[in-house]
Amino acid sequence: MGIIPVPRVAVVVVAAGSGTRLSAGAPKAFVGIDDRSVLRHALDGVARAPLAQVVVVVPAGREGDARTEADAAFGDRSELVTVVVGGDTRQRSVAAGLRALWADVETVLIHDAARALTPPAVFERVIAEVERTGAGVVPARPVVDTLKRVAGADVEAAVDRAPLVAAQTPQGFPRALLDRAYADATADYTDDTALVAASGHPIRTVDGDDLSFKITTPADLERARHLLRPIAPAASALPLVGIGTDVHAFGGDGPLRLAGLEWPRETGLRGHSDGDAVAHAIVDAVLAAAGLGDIGTHFGVDRPEYAGAAGIVFLQRVRQLVAEAGLAIGNVSVQVQANRPRFAPRRAEAEGVLTAALGAPVSVAATTTDGLGFTGAGEGVSATAVALVYRIR
Ligand code: CTP
Ligand code: MG
Repeated sequence: MGIIPVPRVAVVVVAAGSGTRLSAGAPKAFVGIDDRSVLRHALDGVARAPLAQVVVVVPAGREGDARTEADAAFGDRSELVTVVVGGDTRQRSVAAGLRALWADVETVLIHDAARALTPPAVFERVIAEVERTGAGVVPARPVVDTLKRVAGADVEAAVDRAPLVAAQTPQGFPRALLDRAYADATADYTDDTALVAASGHPIRTVDGDDLSFKITTPADLERARHLLRPIAPAASALPLVGIGTDVHAFGGDGPLRLAGLEWPRETGLRGHSDGDAVAHAIVDAVLAAAGLGDIGTHFGVDRPEYAGAAGIVFLQRVRQLVAEAGLAIGNVSVQVQANRPRFAPRRAEAEGVLTAALGAPVSVAATTTDGLGFTGAGEGVSATAVALVYRIR
């Protein structure tokens, strides 16, 4: 069969039941959990388990639907999957599946499609234990409820749950053992290890999984839906926040450049660059949020190309650095503390220039400090910015 090696393991997925207790208007295997059916989820799990021939057993008339689900789950390995029609009991459905096994198969797992969320590791454990022991193998979970033996509504006795386990699927067997037990079976059993045990063969347990619960009732289907729903945004989807401050003293050469604007009749600020404390606070806030270091990392005195550069140039470069890191800037809020210049008349203009340079909304607020501190004394300007960035890839 093409380039796929002939598997020594087979998984029979029984999906031919009607789903009476679920009563969802369709055979249970074809009821949707999310955008995928019970059967599709079951087959997705089998497709992630070790390589095996897969026999899907479905109600008469559903062969085409099952083929579509199998092709979607197995992709270029869909030639591993055979679809057959089941019988009117689970046991007859399993028997129909066994008749479709390939000659080379030595280990057979029987799995309920209704246990749609079974993790692939359970398949691995069952296969390993069958191959190690030659016994029948059932994945099992401890019983959690306290058990009672009853007659109608009357409790007859407490039942010690310590020696009891709940049986799940896939149940695994050496193929010859299972074929013989099925050929000899004279009664109807609810699972395959019960049938094989009745013919006198040893059965071992391995750890099952809580996710292997059987979808039987509407509440079970809700549980499966809930488990598949993402419950919280991934950490990477949370926004990242950063803070930056900057201070420059008045007394530089030339006119004041602040918040991306020139202020012709105001005293300039001293600095390696143009001393634009507002732009520099924004740079630090954005870099901090993005985890990309700080202003000195990218524009320090060891970068002579930025000597005397306008704060706007820094913002344009930061925008680029953030994009290259797979991030986008949400917004920035910056507050200036200074006696001069008076921001109110030009605030909208400043916001427009900063927003255009950064490629994200920047809001600017300004305040004086009631004559206190170096800003109150008119010695310099202080700015504080908060930035939000978020991951886009
Ligand atoms: N099954 C089967 N053929 C049957 C009956 C059951 O292949 N004649 C399969 C079901 O499709 C299911 C598994 O055996 O994957 C376990 O059976 P159960 O949970 O009882 O499913 P249903 O029989 O479909 O449900 P209900 O008993 O509520 O009708
Ligand atoms: Mg049933």
